[in-house]
Amino acid sequence: MTVPATMRALQQTSWNGPQDLRLITDAQVPSPGPGEILIRVTAAGVNFADIDQAHGRFAGGPQPPYLAGFEGAGVVVAVGEGVAGLEPGAHVIGVGGGAFAEYMVLYAGGALPVPAGWADEQALGMVVNWPTALAALKPQGHLTAGQTVLIHAAAGGTGQAAVKMAKHYGARVIATASPGKHEVVRALGADHVLDSRSADLAADVLRLTDGAGADLVLESGGGVTFAASLAAAKQVTGRVVVYGVAGGEAAITNWELVYKHQIHIIGLNLGTLIQAAPHIFGEVTEELSALISAGVLTPGQPTMYELGDGPKALATLAARATIGKLALVP
Ligand SMILES: NC(=O)c1ccc[n+]([C@@H]2O[C@H](COP(=O)([O-])OP(=O)(O)OC[C@H]3O[C@@H](n4cnc5c(N)ncnc54)[C@H](OP(=O)(O)O)[C@@H]3O)[C@@H](O)[C@H]2O)c1
Repeated sequence: MTVPATMRALQQTSWNGPQDLRLITDAQVPSPGPGEILIRVTAAGVNFADIDQAHGRFAGGPQPPYLAGFEGAGVVVAVGEGVAGLEPGAHVIGVGGGAFAEYMVLYAGGALPVPAGWADEQALGMVVNWPTALAALKPQGHLTAGQTVLIHAAAGGTGQAAVKMAKHYGARVIATASPGKHEVVRALGADHVLDSRSADLAADVLRLTDGAGADLVLESGGGVTFAASLAAAKQVTGRVVVYGVAGGEAAITNWELVYKHQIHIIGLNLGTLIQAAPHIFGEVTEELSALISAGVLTPGQPTMYELGDGPKALATLAARATIGKLALVP
C-alpha cells in the first residue's frame, strides 16, 4: 500500500475552541513506531472531549497547534517494529492523537478489530463512549437489577449506550435530554424521560422514586445539573459517578457531605481507568464484546460530516443540538 508523505487534517490553532480548527492539506503523515500501527482513517469519532481539548480544559491535552481528534477507525496500512497479529488490510478502531486526518497512528495493543460485518464507522463508540458508560454503570456504579439509575445526556453518544446497557441489566431508567430528543431515548427503553434543562430535575426524580431518590446517577452534565444530581441520589447508599463537566465546573463541600448529601461520589476518567486499573478495564472490554455478541450493543449509526465540516460538527455538539454519535470522514 502506498502511503503519501502529506495529508489533509484538521489542525487546532488556539485554545479559543473548535472555531479555530483549520483544514490543512500539508500535514505530515506520521510513521508507526515500535508497537504502533498506521491506519488510513475511514471515519473519526467526534467526542465531547474534543471540545474540552479545543478550549484547553482537557487535563494533559495537547498544546496548539495540534492535529485534532483522538478516536479513529480504518484500515491498517503499515505496522511498526514488534507488532504481531495485525497485518495491513485489517480493519481496526482505537484511540491516538490526530484522528481528524487521513492517516493516524494507534498503539497496536489498544486497537480493537471492527466487529465482523460492521462498517468501520459503525464501530465508533466502542473504544470511548461504550466503555465509559459500562464502567460508570458496573465497576464504578455497582448497578444491580431492580435499582433505579438516572442517566443524563441520554440521547448522546455515551448516554444512548448507557440506557441500553442499564435496561439490559434490569434497572429502571430515568433519563434526561433536551426537548426534541425524548422520543429517541424512549425508543431505547428508558422508563421516564425528563427535560435536562428543567429547574425541577431533582424534584421530578424524587417524585418518580416515592421520595427515595436514584440508586445511581450517571453525572456528565456539570454546572447546575451537578447540584440536581446530588439532590436526586438516594441518601446513604446512592452513588453519583461523575465523568463529564459539559455545563462547567461545580463543587460539593465536606459540610454538604456530612449534613446534606450523605452519598457516594465517584470520579471516572477512562484514560486513568485504562492506565491505573487495567484489570478492571479488561473486564469492561470483555463484557462489551459479550454485549456486542448478544446484540445488546448494535452497530452504531453516526451522523457523518465531511472532514472540512469538523468545526460545524463540534459547534453543533457544543450547542446540545445533536443526537447520538457524530463522525468525520476524511
Ligand atoms: N470521563 C471520561 O473518560 C469520559 C469519556 C467519554 C465521555 N465523557 C463525557 O460524557 C459526556 C457525553 O459525551 P459524548 O461525547 O457522548 O457527548 P454527547 O452526550 O453526545 O453530547 C453531550 C450532551 O451533553 C448534554 N449537555 C448537558 N449540559 C450541557 C452543556 N451545558 N453544554 C453542552 N452539552 C450539555 C447535552 O444533551 P441534552 O441537551 O440532551 O441534555 C449534549 O447533547 C461528556 O460530558 C463527556 O465529557 C467522559
